[in-house]
Amino acid sequence: MNRFWRKHGLQTRIRSGGHDYEGLSFVARVPFVIIDLFNFRSVDIDIENRVAWVQSGAILGEFYYRIAEKSRTLAFPGGVFHSVGVGGYISGGGFGLLFRKHGTAGDNVLDAQFIDVNGRILDRKSMGEDLFGRFEEEAVVVSGSFSRGNCVLFLYRKPHEFNSRREANFIAFFLGTTDELLPLMEQRFPELGLTIQDCTEMSWIESILYNNGIQNQPLEILLNRTYRSPINTPYYKIKSDYVKEPISETGLNGLFSRLTDEVATSTVILFFAYGGIMNRISEDATPFPHRAGNLFKICYNTGWQAEDNINSQRYLEWARTTYDYMSPFVSKSPREAYLNYRDLEIGSNNIDYTDYDQATIWGRKYFKHNFDRLVHVKTQIDPHNFFKHEQSIPPLNR
Ligand SMILES: Cc1cc2nc3c(=O)[nH]c(=O)nc-3n(C[C@H](O)[C@H](O)[C@H](O)COP(=O)(O)OP(=O)(O)OC[C@H]3O[C@@H](n4cnc5c(N)ncnc54)[C@H](O)[C@@H]3O)c2cc1C
Ligand SMILES: *[C@@H]1O[C@H](CO)[C@@H](O)[C@H](O)[C@H]1NC(C)=O
Repeated sequence: MNRFWRKHGLQTRIRSGGHDYEGLSFVARVPFVIIDLFNFRSVDIDIENRVAWVQSGAILGEFYYRIAEKSRTLAFPGGVFHSVGVGGYISGGGFGLLFRKHGTAGDNVLDAQFIDVNGRILDRKSMGEDLFGRFEEEAVVVSGSFSRGNCVLFLYRKPHEFNSRREANFIAFFLGTTDELLPLMEQRFPELGLTIQDCTEMSWIESILYNNGIQNQPLEILLNRTYRSPINTPYYKIKSDYVKEPISETGLNGLFSRLTDEVATSTVILFFAYGGIMNRISEDATPFPHRAGNLFKICYNTGWQAEDNINSQRYLEWARTTYDYMSPFVSKSPREAYLNYRDLEIGSNNIDYTDYDQATIWGRKYFKHNFDRLVHVKTQIDPHNFFKHEQSIPPLNR
């Protein structure tokens, strides 16, 4: 198969849930073949041992639904939007609301099965610790442990308006009861004036629907692979940043004033507070390097509606200038970025799939020093670069 591909100059695209923000799992500038893992989506849950085998093509919602079928108190530390594929999500790090307590989804992977370019099936044992967890794109089956999610309390603060159309929401997620939370909040964030009315107690699985903006719907909605949350606009450009120092008030005001631009009507900028276990997992434990030293991760989501797509350039331009505006306030050398918030603009404009120097530009942003180890693994396992796309790890062929 491999030889056939090469003879015809075809590239390969691998798709699990198809949610790549730059469409790299289903778009290419050259003739290509899609390996669609849609049918590889079994979910096997061992409640007693709190482990699961999940195939790459499952969506997070299928995984969550199968957990909820067996237990209402166990959870997997994954993301909120349930139509995201397990394969892309976990291999890119995997951030979710439980990350300060349980780390990324990738941190909870105990074993994995991979098929390499020669068709060999490898798992953690057969590939050895050096390679395990260092893959980015050859993952075909992923497993995960899941953690005890007791009771989840989800807080929602009513919008603080700072002008007629823009709003700031403080959304918090607490593993415990309202009684435990209120005194903590009073002590740590008295300025928010949180009251019992601001809090809603719910199970973890209910919180997934709630955060998705889904109300009064059966859990089966989690199985819908084409579900689109009403929270999201049909078109958007995503960018990310990591913040190491508090941003000055002037700096923040500049950002807020950009949000009053007409083009920013459907834009959402999310700040995710760091800390907790993220400070205690070393940068090189997995390829995902964004650990201690971060105050926030920012996700810039510049959205627009379908009827506005003819003006997409205006929105993209706004996203770029906002990103430029933020540069003094965020991480530098490298300006870190989150792999799962794929952004082709953080690399060179001139994409050469085999050029190591070009790849280091985005590679250091996504992986920091782990990039070198990824290149090392890639060189061992796929020296001819059979699996490649615009931002895949290049082998060193020198
Ligand atoms: C609405 C929405 C909400 C999101 N929310 C979050 C969030 O809360 N937290 C977060 O961390 N991310 C989030 N993301 C980002 C998401 O995690 C990434 O886009 C992720 O890569 C999507 O995985 P996928 O399997 O659906 O995508 P795909 O497009 O199928 O895959 C993404 C990439 O991984 C590769 N890939 C996928 N499966 C395999 C495999 N088995 N073997 C080899 N390569 C593979 C693909 O080739 C592609 O390059 C969100 C994205 C969207 C669209
Ligand atoms: C899945 O969700 C989409 C909307 O997001 C809807 O159009 C579709 O009908 C749903 N499919 C099923 C089987 O419910």
